[in-house]
Amino acid sequence: MRVLAIESSCDESAAAVLDAHGGLLSHELFSQVDLHRTYGGVVPELASRDHVRRLLPLVRSALQRAATDARDLHGVAYTAGPGLIGALLTGASLARSLAYAWKLPAIGVHHLEGHLLAPLLEAEPPPFPHLALLVSGGHTLLIEVAAIGRYRVLGASRDDAAGEAFDKTAKLLGLSQPGGPAVERSGIGGRPERFALPRPMLGRAEPHFSFAGLKTAVRQQAQALAPLSDEDVADLCAAFELAAAQSVADRVRLGMAMAHAQLEPLARRHLVVSGGVAANRRLRAGLAEVAASAGYALHVPPPALCTDNAAMVAWAGAERLARGWTDGLDVPARARWPLDPDAAPALGFGRLGAKA
Ligand code: KG4
Ligand code: ZN
Repeated sequence: MRVLAIESSCDESAAAVLDAHGGLLSHELFSQVDLHRTYGGVVPELASRDHVRRLLPLVRSALQRAATDARDLHGVAYTAGPGLIGALLTGASLARSLAYAWKLPAIGVHHLEGHLLAPLLEAEPPPFPHLALLVSGGHTLLIEVAAIGRYRVLGASRDDAAGEAFDKTAKLLGLSQPGGPAVERSGIGGRPERFALPRPMLGRAEPHFSFAGLKTAVRQQAQALAPLSDEDVADLCAAFELAAAQSVADRVRLGMAMAHAQLEPLARRHLVVSGGVAANRRLRAGLAEVAASAGYALHVPPPALCTDNAAMVAWAGAERLARGWTDGLDVPARARWPLDPDAAPALGFGRLGAKA
């Protein structure tokens, strides 16, 4: 079984071809980071227009590199949500048009399911069930992954997503976007102990996350010190990173304890971390410590699989196709699309497709 996949939920245009036996045959990506840099954030209209320009050439080259033509394919998968609606629609329209023209099933994939399943592309994939921490620009979620299509959200951010907090902190310190890598670069050699920043949610009884207060604390310190020297910025970045990492580690520790108490027969020994923020070294170090002390194996896919890509969409699409979970050509693109039907509605979660 062979699947072509398209990702266009935010500012990465990507296409990939995955074969059930041969693995990932090709994986093409164009990042719009430079296009949005001067605006300090992703501009939705510019993102959509650029996807229109990039996607078809990416699809062509993904097929070419995979030595695949339409007759070899069994389905066309695409990110159906959540994300920027205009951006999603560009990928959805292309994927559904190709599926229609080639008489193939279309498979609408939940972007977060893609992130959750990305670690399965690795040589030593984590077994099911496992605990997953998804830390991206749009989401911070702690999820029990029982099986393909069976996800239970244990905790989520009450305010900013982890990556969003990094991006906003970078902005207020005058660093470039995307903010996560900029904060990490600047924080190398910084002295985190110089500032007493809060550890949001530390010790709270539910494994939720929060980052807005931490970002505000950085702003206050920065305002008190202004104008900032390079050393001030480095110390603030290091302090922010450490506080965020310790807060996340504490929340994950609690999630593990909940898994122990409630989740028979969840195999509690595997923690998967994905999403762009998983690239952060201080965060990984904090999680490695928690995992080691709780007896969990830590799985962090390489950055290329952690950040947005089409390989993960292809994987999720192939898993769905293998189960007969395909969609009509009229499946909507959805800007908001909850992952877990049973999580608190106030947190905005819900069902992942009718068949999940
Ligand atoms: O998963 P991703 O590529 O896109 C989605 O949000 O879906 O995540 C992007 C986020 C951005 O907020 C970026 O600043 C953050 O991941 N990020 C990092 C690092 N690399 C990327 N945050 C902290 N440290 C990093 N090294
Ligand atoms: Zn993403």
